[in-house]
Amino acid sequence: MTAPAKKIKPLVAGNWKMNGTGAHLRELRRLNTGLSKHKFGCDVAVCVPATLVHRLSTMKFGAKIMTGGQDCHGAQKGAHTGDVSADMLKDAGAKWVIVGHSERRAEVKRGGHGETSKLVREKVLAAQMAGLRGIVCVGETLAERKSGDTLKVVGAQLRQSLPDTCSAGDIVIAYEPVWAIGSGLTPSVEQIGAVHAHIRKALTRRFGDAGAAMRILYGGSVKPSNAAELMAIANVNGALVGGASLKAADFSGIIGAYRR
Ligand code: PGA
Repeated sequence: MTAPAKKIKPLVAGNWKMNGTGAHLRELRRLNTGLSKHKFGCDVAVCVPATLVHRLSTMKFGAKIMTGGQDCHGAQKGAHTGDVSADMLKDAGAKWVIVGHSERRAEVKRGGHGETSKLVREKVLAAQMAGLRGIVCVGETLAERKSGDTLKVVGAQLRQSLPDTCSAGDIVIAYEPVWAIGSGLTPSVEQIGAVHAHIRKALTRRFGDAGAAMRILYGGSVKPSNAAELMAIANVNGALVGGASLKAADFSGIIGAYRR
């Protein structure tokens, strides 16, 4: 049975990608001031570059703005020059980590890292072992959407990226159509609703009540002007926000859609 999406506390997570140095953290101070004035019915996390995780986690935001990383290695430690382990992120103060973002799944020749769902699954396991909560990303390319393969692609990514040990407390899914990321384009309400319903069904079938209670975020060109419309779609339990999370005014405009 599928739990009504309304009972699931939404999460709005920012993804700064490879943007921001220490000076940029002032945007989060501004965000914190803005958030203090209202009551929100959602959790808020910001996934910053690894270099900022410790600094963000020691800013006095309490549980209001949680800290996240953007990737972790699948191994706990070892000879992996330049990589960051889940334990290290946790030690630096992170509570969350994004895993399997399409910019990491993208081919190396396109500036990505060619990550497969099998590797993403190892990273999810590493995050779980370290006690981090994972935001696991799935989503189709424009070519896959055009050829009618969206549900098949997303279903396979989901199946292969998630270990059998997922609970609603430690895993969040983010549906991010690759063609909607940073492009200003968003799928229609019906298209998003269909993919989220498909994900919910797959999660519930595999994980039972835990799957019914798992948060499914939408990501891809979320902005203050479309946040309310997106959050009203069934089985959309929050947003993963890239570009618009870099400015306090835009990010708080999106969080504002969840004002109580
Ligand atoms: P965007 O990015 O909001 O800039 O489209 C979303 C993401 O990649 O997580």
